[in-house]
Amino acid sequence: MHFLVYESVCSFKDNIDKYHNRDRGVRLKKGLLITIDGPAGSGKSTISKLLAKKLSYLYLDTGALYRAVAYQVTKRGMSAAGEERIADLCGRAKIRLHCVDQAQRVFVDGEDVTEKIRTEPISLLASTLSAMPAVRAALLSIQREFVKDGGVIAEGRDMGTVVFPEAEFKFFLEADVGERVRRRYMELVMRGENVDYSSLKKDLLARDRQDRERVIAPLRVAEGAIVIDSTQLNTEAVVNAMLAVVAKR
Ligand code: DC
Repeated sequence: MHFLVYESVCSFKDNIDKYHNRDRGVRLKKGLLITIDGPAGSGKSTISKLLAKKLSYLYLDTGALYRAVAYQVTKRGMSAAGEERIADLCGRAKIRLHCVDQAQRVFVDGEDVTEKIRTEPISLLASTLSAMPAVRAALLSIQREFVKDGGVIAEGRDMGTVVFPEAEFKFFLEADVGERVRRRYMELVMRGENVDYSSLKKDLLARDRQDRERVIAPLRVAEGAIVIDSTQLNTEAVVNAMLAVVAKR
C-alpha cells in the first residue's frame, strides 16, 4: 500500500549539474546523500538547511513527518495509546513535502501545517508516536522516495542507522543539554510562543529519553558517522567543518 506521497517543487533538479560551493572551492560528484542525526536542539535543522543551500541540495526534515502524524492525531482527538487506530490513520493520511530553496513545507490532507507542527505538545507527541513500529513503517517509503536521485541533506534520528545506512556521508550532531534547551527556547520565543524554560527543559529531557531508549530505530551514532559537538560552535563553523569532510573524500 502506498499511502504517502511527496512532491518536490525544489529547484534542485535544475541545479544538480551546476552545484558547487565555489566560495570554498568544494566540488562534488553528483547527487550525494548526506545524513545528519542528533537530539533535539543540537542544531540539526539550521545546519542542514545551510549545508543544503551551500551545495544546492534538497533538504529533508524527517522530524516534520512524525510531527505531521502527531498533528493529525491531536486534531482528531485520538489517544496516543491506540496504536492500531494511529496506524490506520497513517494509512489514510496524505503527507506531502514541498521543498522550495531549502525551505520545506508540509501538507497533511491538503492543509499546510508547516508552522502548526512546531509547538512543544506536538514535539512530545511526535516523539511518543515515533516509537511505534507502524508509524515508522508508514513513513519509510516517503523518506526513501525523496532521496532517490541523491543530492539530499536528510536530517532526523535514524537517517544514518536505519533509513539511509548507505549514505555517502553521515554526521551526528551533539551539544550540551543546557545549550540545547537554550536554543530550543530561543527558537520558540522568536516564533512568538509563550514558553516556560523549566517545562521546556523537562520536555526536552523526556524526548531525549524516549528517542534514545525506544526499541525500534533509537537515536544513536551510525556506523561510520562523524560526531560533531556544536556546543561551542556557531552554524557557519559546523557547516564549514562538514564541507571540509565532504570535500576531502
Ligand atoms: O527533529 P524533530 O524534533 O522535529 O523530531 C520530532 C520527533 O520525531 C523526535 O523527537 C523523534 C521523532 N523522529 C524520529 O523518530 N525519527 C526521525 N528520523 C525524525 C524524528
